[in-house]
Amino acid sequence: MPQPKSDAAYDGPPDYRVVGRHGMFPEVSHDEIARFNFLAHMNRHLSTQVMPGVRDAFEARVEPQFRKQEGRDFDNRHEVRKALLKDPMFQWWSALRRATMEQRQQAGRWVVLRQGEALNRRADALTAGDNRLSLDPDLETPRYLAAVDHHCMPGSYHTELVRGDVTGAANYDIGLFATTGGMLGRFNDGGGVAVAKWVKENLPAFKPKRILDIGCGLGHNVLPIAEAFPDAEIVAVDAGAPMLRYGLARAKSMGVENVTFVQGDVSKLADFEDESFDWIQSTMFLHETSYRAMQEIFRETQRLLKPGGVVLHVEQPQYAEGMPLFEQAMRDWDAFYNNEPFWTKMHEIDLDAFMAQAGFSQDALLHGGVAAVVDPAVFPEAAKDEKQEDYGRKAAWHVIGARKPNAEAA
Ligand SMILES: C[S@@+](CC[C@H](N)C(=O)[O-])C[C@H]1O[C@@H](n2cnc3c(N)ncnc32)[C@H](O)[C@@H]1O
Repeated sequence: MPQPKSDAAYDGPPDYRVVGRHGMFPEVSHDEIARFNFLAHMNRHLSTQVMPGVRDAFEARVEPQFRKQEGRDFDNRHEVRKALLKDPMFQWWSALRRATMEQRQQAGRWVVLRQGEALNRRADALTAGDNRLSLDPDLETPRYLAAVDHHCMPGSYHTELVRGDVTGAANYDIGLFATTGGMLGRFNDGGGVAVAKWVKENLPAFKPKRILDIGCGLGHNVLPIAEAFPDAEIVAVDAGAPMLRYGLARAKSMGVENVTFVQGDVSKLADFEDESFDWIQSTMFLHETSYRAMQEIFRETQRLLKPGGVVLHVEQPQYAEGMPLFEQAMRDWDAFYNNEPFWTKMHEIDLDAFMAQAGFSQDALLHGGVAAVVDPAVFPEAAKDEKQEDYGRKAAWHVIGARKPNAEAA
């Protein structure tokens, strides 16, 4: 029986107390911090110490057994996943990974619910009468979103327990550290910092005046973009009202003033005029949209983009040809055991073809890669975490996008 590797270097995540505090950050007690620290360490232990044992079990048992029984190699990731499911090493790792996610959600819920009224009042005080928060009480949450508690998050992004509720968003904010072990940075914004840097380095002449962020969540990755382009007006759209309320209150408390948070379904943005944005951004968003919605969203981005404008989507890598089937099956874990039902389909799609169907020409497509930019003084382990693989959790992403041809230049 393959054993978990005991000789692998173990780098623990930083202490929860380095997490960035802002005006909406809930009070976290000593014991609550200890709980998040335990979960962050548990996740790191699973990815560095236990996960290698799953690969060993696959190579030593699962794959040979499949070959013996079927007289052939695996054809696709689904066959690999089904075979892994019968193996005790995979069962052990998978059950623990799921348990840590559920525990993270409950640990965070405990924190935010006990101070829910105070948090809701604080968000209200920071956002009342501010026209940078535009909520639509009649918006019907898209069914594909409402049907799922994403990554075991009770009520997902949209549920309001009481009027003016922000507790779901606060829970998302404070718990992300436990899952990522700090790899997204003090303010969970390492992705946005990296995107802003990528744009400045790769498109130096690009000076966006109006930026649309679709599926902005509570704005973790929008704020660094807003800070990097202080003269731009940023419109951040999400379907979940709690995320937006919390998002504006958090942004203001952090001194970021150029973002407007709008509630809407980003597959139907009829209120925005054609060709009205220079840059449309999505970050870790596409995997939470349905197959149909994603096509509608791509068409909307093509409609909304100004000539010369840029659309960029930042996501975990696609299951491209050449990615080992074991890796594809492990990456698919989130789809089957972490309430991310669209993850599997989204990652097998030919995104270039989808972009072309939406009207972007093939020679205008942009491809790249970004890794979270975090403060190495605060997160030294994260800074050298480049090689560690955690199938779907690594803070490194692909960028797929397009530049809309400029009619005058054409
Ligand atoms: C994983 S979160 C990404 C958050 C954010 N982009 C970030 O970087 O932190 C996905 C978000 O997409 C939103 N979302 C998904 N489908 C949507 C749709 N059709 N319209 C608006 N928001 C949507 C969800 O409400 C959720 O807040």
